[in-house]
Amino acid sequence: MASPTIKLNSGYEMPLVGFGLWKVTNETCADQVYNAIKTGYRLFDGACDYGNEKEAGQGVARAIKEGIVKRSELFIVSKLWNSFHDAEHVEPITRKQLADWGLEYFDLFIMHFPISLKYVDPKVRYPPGFTYDGKTVVPGKASIQETWQALEKVVDAGLARSIGISNFRAVLIIDLLRYARIRPATLQIEHHPYLTQPQLIKYAQGEGIAVTAYSSFGPPSFVDAGMDSAKGVPSLFEHDAVVEVAHRHNKNPSQVLLRWATQRGVAVIPKSNNQNRLAQNLHVNDFDLSQEDLDKISSLNKDLRFNDPPSYGVNIPIFA
Ligand SMILES: NC(=O)c1ccc[n+]([C@@H]2O[C@H](COP(=O)([O-])OP(=O)(O)OC[C@H]3O[C@@H](n4cnc5c(N)ncnc54)[C@H](OP(=O)(O)O)[C@@H]3O)[C@@H](O)[C@H]2O)c1
Repeated sequence: MASPTIKLNSGYEMPLVGFGLWKVTNETCADQVYNAIKTGYRLFDGACDYGNEKEAGQGVARAIKEGIVKRSELFIVSKLWNSFHDAEHVEPITRKQLADWGLEYFDLFIMHFPISLKYVDPKVRYPPGFTYDGKTVVPGKASIQETWQALEKVVDAGLARSIGISNFRAVLIIDLLRYARIRPATLQIEHHPYLTQPQLIKYAQGEGIAVTAYSSFGPPSFVDAGMDSAKGVPSLFEHDAVVEVAHRHNKNPSQVLLRWATQRGVAVIPKSNNQNRLAQNLHVNDFDLSQEDLDKISSLNKDLRFNDPPSYGVNIPIFA
């Protein structure tokens, strides 16, 4: 079953449900992507930082070679890492990432964080992560305006069809929209019932920027990543409110968590290393929650953010 799509302000259609590639291991990534395409996924959310773009590309190439899908039916997302924000590094790194995927263009290329870090030569270390030398976080000098304008040139060069932003608060978007020649097509944010951010979503959608939720299930991804921020936080899969709604609709709690977003026009990109869960996560748009159900789930909000750089030792408090 194909996912419904959202029309972006760039004119392209983006699937409402995609497959997230963070922490998909190098050993399993090619098969996971290939199997996800066979299962019906068309959007893949990758990034330099995930360190698996070559393998993801191998999965895509296999599916195209076998005639399961055409390139034009896929929606491939990648992200510009913080170490490549200086204008002169944006296009070269985009070309490297495209070469890793084996693609000629990205459907969407996103500024991963509003953080510029000192350049790390990919020949020295790739992906570089948050540190300059494996130990120290060294800020870079690029402004968001410089980086955004370089991303606009990536679109001009035909390397990306749409460009977007991630981990931006509203105030940064308000500023960016003053100078953007090409408006961001999407905003990717942490969004789950413990962190609902209704004003940010309303503002972005009101400006014609599609919102994509990451980490829709809340804690488990960050527990997998060994982050302290998620330790001991009650699972949303077992939360009474979510379980009650799921039972009533004869769905799994995971499907209710994803539908809670997609029904409000928020795209989702769940990650799973498990074939059954991966299939379940795609089939979330064939039922509707009542307004009461949506409100009940939204009321679980605690403004609890797991992906906050200071919580993992990067002292750049972008959400302060
Ligand atoms: N822009 C950013 O800064 C940013 C940050 C974080 C993530 N992202 C993107 O968003 C994607 C999704 O976020 P995420 O990977 O952090 O978290 P997620 O998709 O919310 O959660 C993944 C976790 O949930 C489990 N899971 C998946 N489906 C399940 C199901 N149906 N039932 C029970 N458990 C299930 C997975 O385990 P199994 O694998 O064992 O199923 C894994 O532990 C990422 O892969 C990445 O592409 C972007």
